Amino acid sequence: MAPRFPIADLANVHLQVPDIAKAVTFYTQVWGLLEAHRADDVVYLRGSGSDPYLVALQQGTHTAVISVGLRADPTADLAELRNRIVEAGGMAQDIGACSTFGGGTGFGYRDHRGRLFTIVQDDTLLDPIEDGQHRPRRLAHVNINCSDVEADLTFYQQGLGFEITDRTKIMSFVRTNDDHHVIVLATDTVDTLNHIAFLQDTLEDVMLASGKVVDAGYPVAWGPGRHGPGDNVFNYFLDPFGIVIEHTAEILKVDDTYKIGGPDDWVWPPGRTDHWGVGHAKGDDCKNAQRAIPFI
Ligand SMILES: [Fe+2]
Repeated sequence: MAPRFPIADLANVHLQVPDIAKAVTFYTQVWGLLEAHRADDVVYLRGSGSDPYLVALQQGTHTAVISVGLRADPTADLAELRNRIVEAGGMAQDIGACSTFGGGTGFGYRDHRGRLFTIVQDDTLLDPIEDGQHRPRRLAHVNINCSDVEADLTFYQQGLGFEITDRTKIMSFVRTNDDHHVIVLATDTVDTLNHIAFLQDTLEDVMLASGKVVDAGYPVAWGPGRHGPGDNVFNYFLDPFGIVIEHTAEILKVDDTYKIGGPDDWVWPPGRTDHWGVGHAKGDDCKNAQRAIPFI
């Protein structure tokens, strides 16, 4: 039987950066990832979970997203999934062996705005690490800005089998497992990266990991706080290249009883942008950075 969700989870992001040595230092020494592999000028960084890598870094002239990687359910029919993506308007490559760390089988596709996504199935997972260092466990979600959010929402549902969990005035949340969201679509006029969220095991880990980032000289860009949709705690930073990255934890688990929310369900009192109201407010630097990073 075909799985309910052909995509099991978010797996990785491939980033192009103008100074790969600086990026590796930041994401390992400050953000808590570990170098898993180096090959063909790509540095693969893992978290404490079983994903072979969460971030792949490549040297380039400017900061950009090369691709966002999704992992297919092991029982999903990849050819069927590829057809579905093409029918929904995606430009898909042929299915084949993946040359990225972890291997597996898969294919890439560009969405209707030309953004590259990859799908991997049966990649080789790693043993989790329990070293008490508050390392990100896995990716929690990727938030992308969409100049035609209705078209993107349709694509995620028809092409990939995602389901909507909530919509606010600006954000549309979609899931592909029992996490409240794995991809977030931000209504905008550009088709860029909004931010990448890394899942910590607990709120305490979010705070302790964030303290290390602050110690290294990177101020909090927004937070700490607790979001509305998804109920996850958050703390946002800008990496050395202006990419907005988030520590998060306690993402809401949902099932079919979850009442899908709309914009009227998610209105904050004046002056508030989260449940707690105690964190560093989001400044223009963060707002601008959340629109600035293009896809290649
Ligand atoms: Fe987020």
